[in-house]
Amino acid sequence: MAKSEIQYVCQSCGTAFTKWAGKCGACDAWNTLVEETVSAAPGGLKAMPTSARGKVEFVALDDASEAPPRHQIGVEELDRVFGGGLVPSSATLIGGDPGIGKSTLLLQVAARLARNGLNVVYVSGEEAAAQIQERAVRLKVAGSPVQLATETDLRKVLTALKAAKPDFVVIDSVQTMWSDSLEAAPGSVSQVRACAQELTRWAKKSDAALVLVGHVTKEGQIAGPRVVEHMVDSVFYFEGERGHQFRILRAVKNRFGPTDEIGIFEMHQYGLAPAKEPSALFLTADGDVEGGASVFAAMEGSRPVLAEVQALVAASSYGTPRRSVVGWDSNRLAMLLAVLEARCGVTLAGRDVYLTVAGGYRITEPAGDLAAAAALLSSLTDSPPPKRAIYFGEVALSGAVRPVARMEARLKEAARLGFEVAFVPEGSSATNAGLTLKPIQRLNDLVAYLAPDVQND
Ligand code: TYD
Ligand code: MG
Repeated sequence: MAKSEIQYVCQSCGTAFTKWAGKCGACDAWNTLVEETVSAAPGGLKAMPTSARGKVEFVALDDASEAPPRHQIGVEELDRVFGGGLVPSSATLIGGDPGIGKSTLLLQVAARLARNGLNVVYVSGEEAAAQIQERAVRLKVAGSPVQLATETDLRKVLTALKAAKPDFVVIDSVQTMWSDSLEAAPGSVSQVRACAQELTRWAKKSDAALVLVGHVTKEGQIAGPRVVEHMVDSVFYFEGERGHQFRILRAVKNRFGPTDEIGIFEMHQYGLAPAKEPSALFLTADGDVEGGASVFAAMEGSRPVLAEVQALVAASSYGTPRRSVVGWDSNRLAMLLAVLEARCGVTLAGRDVYLTVAGGYRITEPAGDLAAAAALLSSLTDSPPPKRAIYFGEVALSGAVRPVARMEARLKEAARLGFEVAFVPEGSSATNAGLTLKPIQRLNDLVAYLAPDVQND
């Protein structure tokens, strides 16, 4: 009989301990150890007898057999993020907050692939068949030959999959699946790990492109994150603000494509549709900004995106002034304020500083520094910034403004959207794409342009 033993498994990183503790010794998370009973595999990890060992075949690096054709979804916005379509015999994890639209997206993808003639299976452990059928009617895909199942028992799901031999499978979600070989509760790290592993192993042996849906925990990670992310070939996050229409599909790991591409969608009454003018999604309707704001020409992979940065500098009524950011890194704000103060003589002590990126967009590039500085200076001086201007450039601690990647593409998109002036790092070899370029060598130059009166030295 298989021996059962009790383990305490960290629900954040998946490390198992023999004793309970308040803090995980591996990832330092508090109160994450949960008692789980594991049935040891009979025989354990004994060495295989020589006769049972398979022969390992070595191949040359250039001996690649022809890559199998990808399953193109036929939506450019999706295919680009996946690196040209879904790959057979692969496992993909799509994570996101509950209610963000994962099930909607995958039902739409499943329906498209089924209509393209693929054998498609959608397994839901969360919703009843009637609920999914109702959604299919709403999405106008009810006529697609998708095979729907509602089941949470992993063994039954695998048996059904082996019989159905599908080309594309959605498991919605991996947290609802449970394996009877473990006594741990469904949704626990042990169960998520075991189920993801079994399903991934099956996908690799079959021809199926498997998509696992994963919920994200409060800390913003897929439950049992590291364990599942290592197992699968690709990890994508589906993000967005509940209050806003748009959703972003972002690659975090992709064995078959780039990881810096994003797909931008809008959630409508009848499901998700690719955003019409994605690069202008985070701008106000006329593309012009008021005082205290600026437009950052960002890049998301190969796609330029223009985003409005808003700042508010106000007299503080607190001993320690407030510094608050939404959609940007607070450490970068602190750095930028220090450089403005130390290198440009702009005093911000005793003032609260708020910085927000419009539309729920998140700036991750250091290239956003110059736009943030422009918004801050405009708010500080209470003067409107130059009309129809964009900014990009990384600010160094020395106050120097450094060139950034893909300046040409940023300028071209800005010109296309009707911008006229671009504040860019000096020495950028990019052609101006029809914009008036204002080369900025040091942050001081920007201050001299936008706020000549605030320098106190
Ligand atoms: P859902 O796909 O169920 O999210 P998840 O699987 O990530 O939990 O989508 C949930 C939200 O999307 C729900 O609040 C309603 C909204 N929605 C629309 O706005 N339009 C639609 O056509 C559909 C199907 C859902
Ligand atoms: Mg769902």
